[in-house]
Amino acid sequence: MSQRSETTALGLTFKNPVIVASCDIARDPACFEAFAASGVGGIITKSVTDAPELQESSIARFHIADMSQRPVQGAFPNSYYFFSRGGSMMSMDALAAEAPELLAIGRRYGTVVIGSISASHPDHWVSYAKQMEALGFAALELNFGNPHGEAAKGKLGYLIGQSPDLCRQIAQAVVQAVKIPVIVKLTPQVSDLTALALALQEVGVRAVTVMHRFQGLMIDPETDSPILGGCAAIGGPWMKPISLANVSKIYQKTQLTILGGNGADTARDVYDFLLSGAHLVEICSTMMLRGPAYARQLVQELEELLEQKGKDVASVVGRTAESMVSYKNLGALPRRHSQLDGAVCTGCKEKTCLQSCYFGGLRLENGQVVQDTDHCSGCGLCVHSCPHGAVKMVMGGTKHEND
Ligand SMILES: Cc1cc2nc3c(=O)[nH]c(=O)nc-3n(C[C@H](O)[C@H](O)[C@H](O)COP(=O)(O)O)c2cc1C
Repeated sequence: MSQRSETTALGLTFKNPVIVASCDIARDPACFEAFAASGVGGIITKSVTDAPELQESSIARFHIADMSQRPVQGAFPNSYYFFSRGGSMMSMDALAAEAPELLAIGRRYGTVVIGSISASHPDHWVSYAKQMEALGFAALELNFGNPHGEAAKGKLGYLIGQSPDLCRQIAQAVVQAVKIPVIVKLTPQVSDLTALALALQEVGVRAVTVMHRFQGLMIDPETDSPILGGCAAIGGPWMKPISLANVSKIYQKTQLTILGGNGADTARDVYDFLLSGAHLVEICSTMMLRGPAYARQLVQELEELLEQKGKDVASVVGRTAESMVSYKNLGALPRRHSQLDGAVCTGCKEKTCLQSCYFGGLRLENGQVVQDTDHCSGCGLCVHSCPHGAVKMVMGGTKHEND
C-alpha cells in the first residue's frame, strides 16, 4: 500500500511523509498509540521544557472559531482559527519516564519518533538533547518558534528564534553534542526566515521545520474582551499559502531538509507542501481536532493522490518551487488579456465587471459592456467579479506590454 508514500529523509525511512507535529497528542501513551496505529510516518513528542510556567497544564486554553469568527460547535469546517495559549509542556523527567513506552509503540507500528526541546536555559538544550539521544529518539527538533515565549523567565521559543546569534549558538552546541539528526523549528515572526535558515546550515544543522505559528489576537464581539485573555498562538488551514511561500524560498536557497507545516489539513495540502519543497509534512491542528481516524484517511488519500499522479514522494518534492517565476523576473509571465463572451454576458444591472476593472479593459458603450483589449492589463480581476462566467483570460499581447 505505502510504496509511493514511502520516503527517506535525514537518513531515516518514513512510511509516508505525514508527521504528527509536536503537540498535546504526544503527551499520553494511549493517544500516542492511536496515532501511531493510524499509519502516520512519524510523531514528534510534546516539547520538553525547563520553564515551570509552561508545564502548568491547567492554564492551557484553546478556542476554535470558523472563518466568520463564530465559535465552532461540533462539525469542524474546512478552514478555522485554532487559537491557543499554551501551558502543557513536559518536564525532562516526565518525558524520560514515558519515553520507553512511546519508543516501543513507535517500533511496533514502524513510526519514527522524534523528540522536541523547548528550553529556556542555554545549558539545558545540550543536556536534554543528550538524554533524548540516550533514550533512543531517532532525531531531535529544537523548538525555536514557541509563540508563548514571554511566559518563561529565560529566553524561550520565538524569542530565541528572533535572535540569529542565539539560534546559531544553541543549534551548534546541540549538533556537536549528539549524533542523531537535529531539526530546528523556525518562528515565522522574523523579517528574513531564509537568512536564518542559511545561518543554521552554516553551523551544521541539517533540517528546519518551516514553520511554527504566529501570535494573534482575537476579540469577543459580545464583550469586546480579548478571547483567552490576550495574545495567543493562531493558525489553521488558512495559513497554508504563507507557509508554502516560506518553504519554497528555503528550498530554493539552501540544501536543508525541510519539514513543512502550519496549515496542512488534507492530503492535497500535504502534496502542496511537498511540491513547494518540504520533504516531510508536520500536522497538528487537524490531528487534534479530527482524531486518529482522520489521520488514517489522510494517509490513504495521500497514497491515492500519488497513485493518481503517477508519482512518488521524492519525485514531487520541490517541483513547483523549481518552476516559480521570481519577482525579479515578473516580465517572463505569459501575456494575456480578458475576453468577454457576448453570448454568456447577461448585461446585468450591477455590471460588477466594470466596477473592478481598473485598467479600462472593459468599458460601457451604449449601455453594454464591451471589451477594449488595448487597455486590458491582463490582471484577471474581471473573471472573478462577473457572476455569470462571461469573462475569461486568453493568451495574447495587450497595449500595456509596451507601457
Ligand atoms: C495545542 C497546541 C500545542 C502545541 N504544542 C507544541 C509543542 O509543544 N511544541 C512545538 O514545537 N509545537 C507545538 N505546537 C505547534 C504545532 O506543532 C504546529 O507547529 C502548529 O500547530 C502548526 O501546524 P498546524 O497548522 O498543523 O496546526 C502546538 C500547537 C497546538 C495547536
